[in-house]
This record gives sequence, C-alpha cells and structure tokens, in this order.
Amino acid sequence: MSKLSRLLSELGAGDSTLSTRRRAQIILQRLFHGRRQRAVGDTWDRYVQNALGYAPDGVPGDEWGAARLWDYRFAELFQLYGVDAWRQAVEIGQGSGKYTERVLQASPRVVVHCLDVSREFLSLLRRKHGALCEAGRIQPVLLHGDRADEMLRYCDAQGLRRRLDAVFSIDAMVHVDLQFLIAYLVTASLCLRRGGHLILTLADPTTARGFEKLLRDMRAMYLPGTRKAPQFQWVSGDIVRHVLGALGFAVVRCDAPAPESSTPRDLFVVGRLDDPARADGFERYLAS
Ligand SMILES: C[S@@+](CC[C@H](N)C(=O)[O-])C[C@H]1O[C@@H](n2cnc3c(N)ncnc32)[C@H](O)[C@@H]1O
Repeated sequence: MSKLSRLLSELGAGDSTLSTRRRAQIILQRLFHGRRQRAVGDTWDRYVQNALGYAPDGVPGDEWGAARLWDYRFAELFQLYGVDAWRQAVEIGQGSGKYTERVLQASPRVVVHCLDVSREFLSLLRRKHGALCEAGRIQPVLLHGDRADEMLRYCDAQGLRRRLDAVFSIDAMVHVDLQFLIAYLVTASLCLRRGGHLILTLADPTTARGFEKLLRDMRAMYLPGTRKAPQFQWVSGDIVRHVLGALGFAVVRCDAPAPESSTPRDLFVVGRLDDPARADGFERYLAS
C-alpha cells in the first residue's frame, strides 16, 4: 500500500474526538515528516549497497567486529537474562541478523520480530535466513518511521502487548536520537510482560573509548560525503537510569564493559520491567 493510501485509510480510524481538519493536518504533517525520517532508511540502504563490495563474505554488517566480539556481547547481554526460555521477542535494527540468529539458536521456540527502517537490511535478513523466515520464527518488519506509535501498532496487531519476553537492539540505537528512541522505550514498557527484559547498547561519551569516538568522528560530521555510516547519538548512564526508572524498569545493568573485553566504548544496558503499571500512563504520548 502506498504511504498516501495507508495514511488516508487511517483517516477514519484515529481518535474520533479529532475534527476532520485536524486529522487532515496530522496526515499532511506525517507525509512530510515521514519523508525526512524515510531518509534514515535510505541512508542505511545505501550503506548496505556500498558495503556489499567490501564486507566479509559479502554480508554487510559483518565488517563490524568479529564473531568473538558478538559472542561476548551475546553472553553478557542475553545468556545472563534467560534467553533460552524466550518465546516472543522484538529486535529493533537487526541488520543482517547476527544477534537474531544467536537468539534463535539459544531458544528453540522463540519468534523474533525484526523491525528495521532499512529495506536492504531486511532483504539481506530474508536472503540469509530464508528458512527461518518461512517457518515464521523470524518476522521481518519494515518501519516507515513516520509515527511515534508505529511499533506499538505492530505489537498490538500481532497480539504482543504484555507478551514480550524481550525487546533488544544491539549497535543500532547508538544511531537514534533520544527524542526518537523514547518512542521505542515507551513501547517496550507497554508491551513487555512483567519481568521481561529491555536490552540495548547505547553510545556514551563519558567512557574513554566513547570520548575518543566523539573526537574521531568530528571532522566527518562536517563532510557528510566522507561518512561511512550515519552519525552516533549520545547518552550517559544518568540519562538512561532516569528514563528507564521513570518507565517502570529496574536497571539491572548500565555500564561500559571492562577494557579487556575489547568492547568498552558503549553502554551495556539491561532493564527488567518490574512495574508495568507505571508505563500505562505514557501511552497517550505515543498515540496521535
Ligand atoms: C549498525 S547496524 C546494526 C545491525 C545489527 N544490530 C548488528 O549489530 O549487526 C544499525 C541497524 O539499525 C537500523 N536502524 C537505524 N535507525 C533505525 C531506527 N530509527 N529504527 C529502527 N532501526 C534502525 C539500521 O537499518 C541497521 O539495520
């Protein structure tokens, strides 16, 4: 369905207290704002097309680190938090699916809903893991990035509210500004079951390696043509602890791993949803 017809079909479905004029205004705003957001997906699509030329084994995304590093993250961020018993999980920004496949191997029954803004990364996921997609254990979902409640609407359509064991996103939300990230965080707090886990890596300039990255990327930000990947967005432990606490999460991990782990740049964040009722009050901010 084209974006315009999708928006028009929603015209009658939204909040019935809104006047037709106001609904039309919202639709126009979404169309134009959506175009800006769509550019995020286009940037990642271009990244994939370029990386096909140099990525190991022709798999864009595999040029970031090595299997040892991915296994380390999986052990630290997933195996410690009951991944083997998960049944329903949402992954945001799965790329080629290197963490998706580890989750699927760990838990024989889990379904992973992979939500990404990049059509190219989603095609790559389908090419790499066609059998798992066909079996329904991977559900690839394109995000249009034009409404704050996009992930919530998907979860509701799939009957996932309060049924998710985990929402996770590795090396992806380091590129998403907190003003957009908050929509995913609120949605996670609305859709996780009590005790479900939110698992993220986020970029923190107060770690030694984070600060070094901030400096190293500086010149390229002024010369967009020289950038390989979209820019990083920055948070700190204080911000993360405050926001997750306010949404009903107990923050069970929020630290940069030890230097010898060879991954000490980003914050490893794990929140456990202990107080789901807290989040219910935030739903009104998502809906238009
Ligand atoms: C650096 S890649 C990481 C991919 C994968 N998680 C990995 O570690 O290999 C970033 C991923 O996040 C996706 N992404 C970027 N911005 C996003 C957003 N706002 N919402 C959802 N996905 C996003 C990109 O399309 C890409 O798949």
